[in-house]
Order: sequence, then C-alpha cells, then structure tokens
Amino acid sequence: MSVPQKDKLTVLTLGGGGREAALVRRFAACDSCGAQYAAPGNASTALFAGNISLDINDGEAVAVVCRLLAVDFLMIGPEAPLAAGVADTVRRLCPDTAVLGPGADGARLESSKAFAKAFMRRHGIPTAPATVVKADNIAEAKDLFARCEWPIVLKADGLCGGKGSIIVRDRKEAEQTLRRMLGGQFGDASRTVVIEDFLRGRECSVFVVTDGANHLVLPAARDYKRACDGDRGPNTGGMGAVSPVPGLTAEFLEKVEQRITLPTLAGLRAEGVAYRGILYLGLISVGGEPYVLEYNVRLGDPETAVVLPRTGGDVLRAFYDAACGRMESAYLPPSNDAAVAVIRAAEGYPGPVRNGLPVVVGALPQDAYVLLGGAVTGQDGALLTAAGRVATAVAVAPDIATAAARAARAAEAVAFAGAHNRTDIGR
Ligand code: GLY
Repeated sequence: MSVPQKDKLTVLTLGGGGREAALVRRFAACDSCGAQYAAPGNASTALFAGNISLDINDGEAVAVVCRLLAVDFLMIGPEAPLAAGVADTVRRLCPDTAVLGPGADGARLESSKAFAKAFMRRHGIPTAPATVVKADNIAEAKDLFARCEWPIVLKADGLCGGKGSIIVRDRKEAEQTLRRMLGGQFGDASRTVVIEDFLRGRECSVFVVTDGANHLVLPAARDYKRACDGDRGPNTGGMGAVSPVPGLTAEFLEKVEQRITLPTLAGLRAEGVAYRGILYLGLISVGGEPYVLEYNVRLGDPETAVVLPRTGGDVLRAFYDAACGRMESAYLPPSNDAAVAVIRAAEGYPGPVRNGLPVVVGALPQDAYVLLGGAVTGQDGALLTAAGRVATAVAVAPDIATAAARAARAAEAVAFAGAHNRTDIGR
C-alpha cells in the first residue's frame, strides 16, 4: 500500500486487556499520536482514547469503524482477531488504514502449534522434537509414553489464552491428561495435541516488529506464567514480567537473530506469507543455545507493560511504518532502565472469576503506575473488575530490585475483594 506520511495519526487499538492499556498509554506519549480509540478498551485506555463497543473478531465491523473514524493505523492487540483474519479484511476493505498484525495465514504460527512445529522443521529452526496426536492416532501417543523420558509437555494445538500447555510427569498422568484434552478440555483447541520433549533452561520472550522485509527487535522480557510464588500452581496468561532479563547475553541474542528470527522471516517469505506485525518468540536457553517453545503473533501480556517503557523513540510511528511496509529506517532506542510488572488478579484466576467488584487504587510509589486492563468504569464512574487479571502494576527504575519493590507496592495499592498477586516477581 502507498500511504502518505502524516504528522498526526488517528489510531484504533483492538483489545481490552493490560497489553492494550500499555499500548494506548505508550502511543499517547508519541509525537505522531493524534486521536486515539480503543475497542473494546478498558478503564485505562479510557484515559487516553475513546472506548468503542465492537466485536473485534468481526473484520467487517472493524472495517466500518476504521472508515467512519478515518483510522490511519489499526493496532491489533490479541491473537483471536488475528486468527480470525481481521487484518486481511481491513486491508481489503480499507486501503487507507495501515494494519499492524499478520493475516490469518501468518497467524497460524500461533493459532496452530502443530503448524508452527512443522514450519520450524521445514526451516531448520531449533525447537523440541514433537509428535502430533488426534483421537485417530492415539496409539502413537501410547507408544511414545512407553519409551519417553519424563516429564514431557502436552500442548493444545489451538488458542487457549496461555493455559493450554501441561507438563506431565509419568505415563498414567500423561494418558489421563491426553484423554481429557482430546475429549475437549479446551474445546476444539485441544482436539489436536502436540506432545513434545521437556526442555530445561531459562525462558525469555523476544519481540520482533516487522514489515515482512525489515525488522526491529524490542527489549527482551521474561514473564512469570505460574499462578503462585516459586513458579508453582497452574499456568496463567502471565502473573508478572521483567525487562531486561537477568543473565541474557548479547551473544545469546545474536544466536536468536541468526538461528531463529532471520530464518523465521525468510521462511514466511518463502511460503508466500506477507507478515506485517509483531512476532513474539517464546524461547528457552538450553546450555546457552536458544530453542523456540512457541511463536505468538502479537505482543505479550503482561510483557508489553515492561517492554514499552524501555522502548524509546516514536513507537507509534515505527509501528505505523511497519504496517505500511516501509520500516527500513525505523529505530527505537532501548533504555537502560529496568521495568517490572506485577499482576493483581481476581480470586479464582486462572479459573472463573466474579466480575463487577468495586476497585480502589490507593497512593502509588514513585515512578510506578497501574494499568487497569481488567477493569471498566461503571455508569456512576466507579471502577469495577471485569476480568481475571484486573490490574498490572508497573514500575521503572535504574535496577530490577528497585523496580520490583515499587511494582509490588503499587500492586498492593489496588484493592478489591479477593485481590492477590505474586510476591516474587523480579526478586
Ligand atoms: N504472557 C504470555 C503471553 O502473552 O502469551
């Protein structure tokens, strides 16, 4: 697409969680930011953007809004609209709107773990060996369980909000878990299961912004996926995040660039996928060598809350240039500060939670703020819970320990019935 350079951009961000709260806040601080809208948004996006009630998985409805509001830049936050092809529809119907996010073909890297494994095999990208199982080849899984080394990992093929990956420690647990998953534990998303070797090492997330040809790497982050302190309890969408990642070396990141990022982008091009968006590499370092645990096709939540405050420059302009296919000269200087995010969650999370509980935010420590990704403003102006991850407390400081202490205090300042958070994020 050929889009003229505009001084001020009208922006629509799709999504309504902490990630979108962080994006809208960061965009608002950019010179290129004009009018902002968010759909559906949340209590935090409402501070910087007009919230719009909209089915964000309906590409035609999103296209209508883009036309009505003369949106220059559409930022697609979550995976579901990407997998549903919203980017394709808006590109087709709204040539004046630049969209950051892959089409449904590129989104398969996240929406099908089996597809992603096969893609990595085709392009020689390091990842754990895996077997794909459905109800009709369950015998293959039983053979595997008879000879594998424990633990192993069972992953639902489709989208499960970060909860579809289960580590099993013996044959009995594996067979029971597999039966539950294939029987629809995660709906259709787990009718196909990827069984893979368990890799031991330190995890990190690397975020790449690309126009398909050029790319920029944003600051790396680590998220804390388990519900409880000490990395115990069930998997969640993420209970906190830190950036930079302690111990992550420039040498490791160069290996990621050469062995993973460049081959992935080249593989997409070779397969005819025009990928304009974010590529999120969920990585593990095994003896200093990077392996891909998963691809996602969007920014992470809560990682965005620590990545964006460490990303200098006009982030919005760089993202827009990527969406327009002209990011050759984009540069976003990383800051030397550290950022820590702590999720304040509702009782029961990651299971079902009660919404509509009043939320009060007390005094916050220096250089800390709260993103109310899982809260909405009620009719009388009161803040009410609206999701499991109610708030993301963020702090930026010269070092991780200071940022962690401030983020923890900021999380404690968010009060609602049943509120809780991990106390070991960044510690
Ligand atoms: N924090 C993990 C994710 O965004 O998928």
